[in-house]
Amino acid sequence: MAQFKLKINGKLHQVDVDPNTPMLWVLRDHLDLVGTKFGCGIAQCGACTIHMDGNAVRACQLPVSSVEEAEITTIEGLSEKGDHPVQKAWMEHDVPQCGYCQAGQIMSASALLKKNPSPNDEEINQAMNGNICRCGTYTRIRAAIKTASQ
Ligand code: FES
Repeated sequence: MAQFKLKINGKLHQVDVDPNTPMLWVLRDHLDLVGTKFGCGIAQCGACTIHMDGNAVRACQLPVSSVEEAEITTIEGLSEKGDHPVQKAWMEHDVPQCGYCQAGQIMSASALLKKNPSPNDEEINQAMNGNICRCGTYTRIRAAIKTASQ
């Protein structure tokens, strides 16, 4: 066990955990930030996507010991009222079906648009490639990203 100071969604938190604990479980089990989801646990599905210094990363394979100096943002911290342009576009296009993967999808999409406000189709496909949706909402996800990029 060790103590870690973490900056998450603009607030400082202190946790006492094994240094190898994945951020996914620090967020969900220690900080009650359960918007970040567990899908595969091996960095293959994207359900656990968060931002680390603005980059989309997989929290299931991110040891807490590697994030101490970083700014972490989860879906809970993306906007105050769920009104980030990507979230608004998601609502406009009625993107979710079961919804399980959607926080991760939104975190990947918002990281993309922050770096590249007007991505082309190929850039969108590349950025969203690692986010799997079992319901197959891909067409609506792409449409919502286009809307948010305008
Ligand atoms: Fe992390 Fe699937 S749960 S990528």
